[in-house]
Amino acid sequence: MISKATIDTVFETARVEEVIGDFVQLKRAGSNFKGLSPFSDERSPSFMVSPVKQIWKDFSSGKGGNVVAFLMEHEHFTYPEAIRYLAKKYNIAIEETEQTQEEKAITDVRESMFLVSEFAKKYFHDTLINSEEGKAIGYSYFKERGFTHETIKKFELGYSPEQWDAFTKEALGKAYNLEFLESTGLTIVREDKTPIDRFRGRVMFPIHSMSGRTLGFGGRILTNDKKVAKYLNSPESEIYHKSKVLYGIFQAKQAIAKQNNCYLVEGYTDVIQFHQAGIENVVASSGTALTPDQIRLVNRLTKNITVLYDGDAAGLRASIRGIDLILEEGMNVRVCTFPEGEDPDSFARKSSYEDLVAYLETNAKDFIQFKASLLMDEAQNDPIKKADLIRDMVTSISKIPDRIKREIYVQECARIMDISEQVLLNTLAQLVQKDISEAEKKIKQEQKAFEVIKDENPIVTQKVDVLYELERKIIEILLLYGDRTEEFEDVILKTNEEGEIVESTEKKDYKVYQRIYLSLQEDEVELANPLFLNIYNHLINYYHQAENFQMDQYLMHLEPEFTQEITDILMLEEQMALHNWESKQIIVKGKDQTVAQYVSETILTLRWFLVNRIIEDLKVSIAQEPEADNTEPLSMAMDYYKLIGSFSKKLGRVMSRYS
Ligand code: CTP
Ligand code: MN
Repeated sequence: MISKATIDTVFETARVEEVIGDFVQLKRAGSNFKGLSPFSDERSPSFMVSPVKQIWKDFSSGKGGNVVAFLMEHEHFTYPEAIRYLAKKYNIAIEETEQTQEEKAITDVRESMFLVSEFAKKYFHDTLINSEEGKAIGYSYFKERGFTHETIKKFELGYSPEQWDAFTKEALGKAYNLEFLESTGLTIVREDKTPIDRFRGRVMFPIHSMSGRTLGFGGRILTNDKKVAKYLNSPESEIYHKSKVLYGIFQAKQAIAKQNNCYLVEGYTDVIQFHQAGIENVVASSGTALTPDQIRLVNRLTKNITVLYDGDAAGLRASIRGIDLILEEGMNVRVCTFPEGEDPDSFARKSSYEDLVAYLETNAKDFIQFKASLLMDEAQNDPIKKADLIRDMVTSISKIPDRIKREIYVQECARIMDISEQVLLNTLAQLVQKDISEAEKKIKQEQKAFEVIKDENPIVTQKVDVLYELERKIIEILLLYGDRTEEFEDVILKTNEEGEIVESTEKKDYKVYQRIYLSLQEDEVELANPLFLNIYNHLINYYHQAENFQMDQYLMHLEPEFTQEITDILMLEEQMALHNWESKQIIVKGKDQTVAQYVSETILTLRWFLVNRIIEDLKVSIAQEPEADNTEPLSMAMDYYKLIGSFSKKLGRVMSRYS
């Protein structure tokens, strides 16, 4: 592990504008730098770098973050890889550290498993190239399949001898621990305690992570014996999760980003044969149904996937689910099928590079055309089937998050299926609505959030995202003013000379973050948005611990999953025009307003909003069971009304704006 001291030095030394300047041409624009987005094709610059805040924001793709986030996005580095890159650029010596006992145990296990896998990969490869058996059986098999020596090297293909424990013996002899041989699945310990090799007499395909670490293996038998499973794979383990890897991603990542497209195939040999044919932006799902995690791996590199299916119809239909999953991730999907009896491997082997490219160009269809061509034959003269097909297409369209894209596909579908756009749009609206309510239901179950049903209260129902905006406002205040000390008014109860209890106000100094924390705690209010809640907890903890808050210090230690949102919030100032708070009726800090007033107002509005929701909820439950004894919910509702009343007094100004 890289020591914290090194990471700190790296962040203190690295200048975001210098690092990005190596990849993007930046021009000064006021206190910022501007350039063309490196993540999209554009003519007018929407990429901004703030040297003051040490962050960047790409307004065309929405990405943003600190210097490390840029390297992770642009170069597809992992966090430690990015730190090492920066250390090298700025000549900083890397100090490796000690971890806690517990951390050590966990990383030790994983690291040991990686070491064993790395050793196995080298062993299998070496056996393939140098041993008599490997050459005679494994190497000649690959040659027969048309793989060149160069290809075999590139994919580090291997051979595991036809013996009970050739590999295990070798590994134990080199002092690798049996525990890790077993946990990676390379060795199987039998009941009588004898250890044997999992992969015997098989050619080996090592499976790599995005950054090139060896995670596991696929091993193929050399015969076409139908009784034995053709491929055997590493079992699930601490380092190998089948649903989260894509075969070939390590060898393909540069090409995918550069070509801005990724071909998705089924098998190991499809990937390898494509590479050899000169097409390198290809990965395989390794015979399983595509998963969201796998799609997200590709999504880090490109928005475009072209799915290549074998020529058999059974496989085609089973894979349609994959298309909707890709659409759901907001990606563009095209589909290309191969002639009956061919798979990408056999087809690529027969074709020249030019023919292969031409075939893919002519035959890749967008998913609407693909679905139409797949089902049209049967549906043509059967109105019921045709209706099903249309519904099927619209269901796919409804998965697309982008509204404009949805509309474009509706137009295409209408044209192909010869049906009016309006009918499709209506169906689409129903489906989208259904999806939204399902998502809402899920959120409700997860966070016990309050669902809004009645539309009596204008703010609660019409501006659904008010809560979102208010919570975001809280985060913004914490980021911008959290550490400031301000004078707030506390309401306290006192006994006057006549012995009556009266309210009075007292002025007192608080840190802004303390004030927010205490107020929310008082109401037992938790932020509803899970990301905001996470950032909120993180920030509060940070304030509690840090002596004095410094934005750059905070940003440098930020978890990657937070940087996006936080950068957006911080860059808001620069892009005020994009976020017109006033028109959304979310309070904007007025020039004459103090930070303390602004904070109090925001918290009060949030509390007011949440309490309103509770009342709405109570009303609904009362209305649903008018026969029941409703005294308790009624009296609760009354109490909440009183509370609302007290907010309203304090909020006067804001309330009038909402009602
Ligand atoms: N697969 C597997 N286990 C099996 C069969 C297949 O893990 N018993 C996976 C492998 O990753 C394989 C992919 O599914 O590459 C595609 O399977 P298939 O089309 O049957 O294999 P091919 O890649 O065509 O294999 P080959 O050309 O070597 O026969
Ligand atoms: Mn094949």
